[in-house]
Amino acid sequence: MEGDAFSPYIDASVEVYVAAMQKTRDVVAARRSITARHVSHPGLRAVIAQPDDEEQLVGFAYGYYGARGQWWHDAVADELSREQRKEWLSNAFELAELHVLPDWQRQGIGKQLLDLVCRDVPRRTVVLSAIDDETPARALYRSVGFQDLLLGFTFAGSSERYAVMGRPLPLDAPSPRL
Ligand SMILES: CC(C)(COP(=O)(O)OP(=O)(O)OC[C@H]1O[C@@H](n2cnc3c(N)ncnc32)[C@H](O)[C@@H]1OP(=O)(O)O)[C@@H](O)C(=O)NCCC(=O)NCCS
Repeated sequence: MEGDAFSPYIDASVEVYVAAMQKTRDVVAARRSITARHVSHPGLRAVIAQPDDEEQLVGFAYGYYGARGQWWHDAVADELSREQRKEWLSNAFELAELHVLPDWQRQGIGKQLLDLVCRDVPRRTVVLSAIDDETPARALYRSVGFQDLLLGFTFAGSSERYAVMGRPLPLDAPSPRL
């Protein structure tokens, strides 16, 4: 789904985020407003996992076209070399979120959401940030050919360390190192 079609799912997606990332509920309001802002970004593409017999979402993913002036884009661009910026950010789909409820993990849903959200996206690369640790997310991204662009990266206002990763699109093509 694109743009506004994801808006009705914002609250439900934040619930999935809180459970998947094991956050406390005090982040809910801020996450809702961040997601609402993301939904208005150009090229917003979102996918949800909602089994027929479940009312709640069990997973979701979304991304959008990166552009100067966006918070994530500008923070990462500042740390990359000029050449890396050109290769990785100049025509990129930025995968902002991918989460699956804990009880539904390890059943192939995350991989399926990643494939679907990137499918036919008319961009040259897909880029993202993930906590810089040996997490399931990092294993998933590596398994489909993402490479590390930055390690130990911190965003302003947070002490958490992130890995910034990227991969040429489409996901089903071999992943040569750029
Ligand atoms: C990352 C996440 C979305 C993966 O979802 P999932 O539905 O469990 O993933 P899948 O079942 O599709 O697994 C796909 C691949 O990811 C890797 N993977 C997933 N879980 C893993 C784990 N616990 N340990 C190691 N590798 C794992 C494997 O390579 C796996 O392929 P395999 O099952 O053939 O070995 C899920 O673990 C999650 O929501 N984590 C918390 C939130 C988060 O970190 N989101 C990413 C933010 S950047």
